Amino acid sequence: MQGETTLIQQAVEDELRRDAYPENFPAIPELPTARYADPAFYDIEMKHFWPKTWLTAAHISELPEVGSYVLFEELGRSIIISRGEDDVVRAFHNVCRHRASAILLEKQGKAKRFICPYHSWGYSAEGQLVSVPEQRDFACLDKSKRGLVPVRCETWRGFVFINLDGEAAPLEEFLAPVARQWANYPLENMVIKGVMRSDMECNWKVAYDNFLEIYHLSSVHGKSLAPFLEWRSFSLSMYKGGHGRFATRKKQGATIFKLDQAPPPSTNELFKEHTLALPTFPNVFVAADPVGFNWQTFWPNGTGKSVMTSRLMGWKDDSDEDRALWDQMKVNIAGILAEDLILFKDIQRNYETGSLPGAMLSYQERMLYWYQEEVDRVIGVENIPEHLRMKQVLADYVAE
Ligand code: FES
Ligand SMILES: [Fe+2]
Repeated sequence: MQGETTLIQQAVEDELRRDAYPENFPAIPELPTARYADPAFYDIEMKHFWPKTWLTAAHISELPEVGSYVLFEELGRSIIISRGEDDVVRAFHNVCRHRASAILLEKQGKAKRFICPYHSWGYSAEGQLVSVPEQRDFACLDKSKRGLVPVRCETWRGFVFINLDGEAAPLEEFLAPVARQWANYPLENMVIKGVMRSDMECNWKVAYDNFLEIYHLSSVHGKSLAPFLEWRSFSLSMYKGGHGRFATRKKQGATIFKLDQAPPPSTNELFKEHTLALPTFPNVFVAADPVGFNWQTFWPNGTGKSVMTSRLMGWKDDSDEDRALWDQMKVNIAGILAEDLILFKDIQRNYETGSLPGAMLSYQERMLYWYQEEVDRVIGVENIPEHLRMKQVLADYVAE
């Protein structure tokens, strides 16, 4: 990691010195804005994209005990994430094997048995069908064959992911390029301090794009964030799989948040001198800070509608000071997000009118193009009409 730290410091210095578009880097093609506005592309994403990639479903601290569960209710689905007697976290479609009622209706809870509200079939936290009222009236019901239908589910350092594709590569392989960056950050000591959900009047990519560049920092966050970040030091690495890393030097002490009290000294020097933001394909944005971070995810809810979920992650600490810190952090974070969110609706409208068929991207904004190239690779280029495709131009510029 020491080597990595030096490389990051070097990259940041290089960016501060750079005074021209980098030689040997291609001009980034225009981004076809119909990808944000055409219902046909939304349908393609729903059919060929979302069911084929790893997705954040929960954090382990939301499932503290055997029988704890949360529902993942994005993408028009309902999926149970539960902790079994064996402490394994599993995912199941929230669909009764009798006549498809939802079994769990509360978003989060704890239960010894999951009892379907319709005719009371009962399932264990490990998904087995264990009780059927009036079972004698079913001609051939083998309970061992009617358990809840599982969804691929794997956990990485406390974050629970699901994948609707049973054939997908393991989570560890998928996350490898970004997982490396977290090596010296003690993720295991983190718990959820709060969850915020924002409904947005824009395509999910309009919102996600906003977090993938620092170009808007001084115009949009002039008073809130800009005083804490040396934005011209923004150094970006694109990684295989549509992931990335942004390193930006801090201007004032260890944290980018305006706080009345000192942050807990929980991370190594690298995270104190720089903000390492780790956009994780396909829809996660997170900027690591010694105070904690906001694990943001972006979900489609129609062509021009989406939801942003913010999981606020801090250190295991039950003190009054920590509670006060997070009360303040919640106000801080909501304030910064509000500065971004106010812009999205008009961008969406303008993409929908077709008045800007192609969006022009700067070198600093190349992450927006990179993750969408990967979106097309996951979908399969042959499934996308030509005018909606990304040109595949950045693969040769990926960092190791
Ligand atoms: S639909 Fe669940 S018990 Fe009938
Ligand atoms: Fe912003």
